[in-house]
Amino acid sequence: MAVEKWMDLNGKVVIVTGGSQGIGEHVVQNLRANNAFVVVADLRINENFIEDKGIVFVKCNVAKKSDVENMVKVTIEKYGKIDAIVNNAGVSRPRMLVDYYGQKPEYELTEDDLDFMYNVNQKGVVLCAQAVAREMIKQKSGVIINLSSQAGIHGSKGQSAYSGTKAAVHSYTMAWAKELGQFNIRVVGVAPDVNERTPMNNDAAFEALAYTRGTDPKNTTDDYTKTIPLGRPGKLDEVADLIAYLVSDHSSYITGTTINISGGKSCN
Ligand SMILES: NC(=O)c1ccc[n+]([C@@H]2O[C@H](COP(=O)([O-])OP(=O)(O)OC[C@H]3O[C@@H](n4cnc5c(N)ncnc54)[C@H](O)[C@@H]3O)[C@@H](O)[C@H]2O)c1
Repeated sequence: MAVEKWMDLNGKVVIVTGGSQGIGEHVVQNLRANNAFVVVADLRINENFIEDKGIVFVKCNVAKKSDVENMVKVTIEKYGKIDAIVNNAGVSRPRMLVDYYGQKPEYELTEDDLDFMYNVNQKGVVLCAQAVAREMIKQKSGVIINLSSQAGIHGSKGQSAYSGTKAAVHSYTMAWAKELGQFNIRVVGVAPDVNERTPMNNDAAFEALAYTRGTDPKNTTDDYTKTIPLGRPGKLDEVADLIAYLVSDHSSYITGTTINISGGKSCN
């Protein structure tokens, strides 16, 4: 964990869903570097976190209510409060509405694809926010941070079902901020776009996405200067820095909005 301390989150208790890899892993590292206690709720453990006494791992499928209730129970039993949750666990399957190329029907959207993405990206976010908000209302404080995506704000070719789930997350953020503001609970969305590769963006996902977009799957050297004003993909640590700031009291007047972190990219 080579992340630098850059703000004080001393004593904050933060749940990070999907914290074992990708963006979530960087968020956990950043929060720990700034002295927060972290509960990682994921399907699988990250071995690098085992030695750190400030990290508790809870095996949790965010789409299963009993698992989510257990995640909250474990956190309250250990720390007595929840200052923030980062609803980061998410899944994606690039799929076309209709395979109009007629060559790879496996990349046409199925009911199973819809259920898979809906369950984790939408139902999972609702179950986690609901279970955590019950505690935060009692505390009269808390922050709920939802990982949306630029795909959810602008739509993404070959990713309509994923985009839909992330648009829903953006709507939940605005609606829950209106419901929970009276309890001093903030709800904020974070919408990244193209980033350093994570396991979500593995070779198979790139191949599927290239097919759905009619581009060459072998050409992975995109000229980002054409699509991203800052000319490069985002770093996972940059997303993690934003989330650490949103967990902190320095962001105390930010709620009901989704923050674009995309190097200025706003649509394809
Ligand atoms: N990577 C990007 O470029 C990017 C861009 C925009 C938005 N996002 C969003 O950021 C979040 C993280 O993306 P990532 O690229 O780090 O993904 P990832 O696939 O690398 O990691 C996701 C993590 O979530 C966990 N997870 C999956 N299903 C789960 C479930 N049912 N219950 C609990 N945990 C589960 C996985 O085990 C994994 O640790 C997602 O919500 C994604 O939609 C990512």
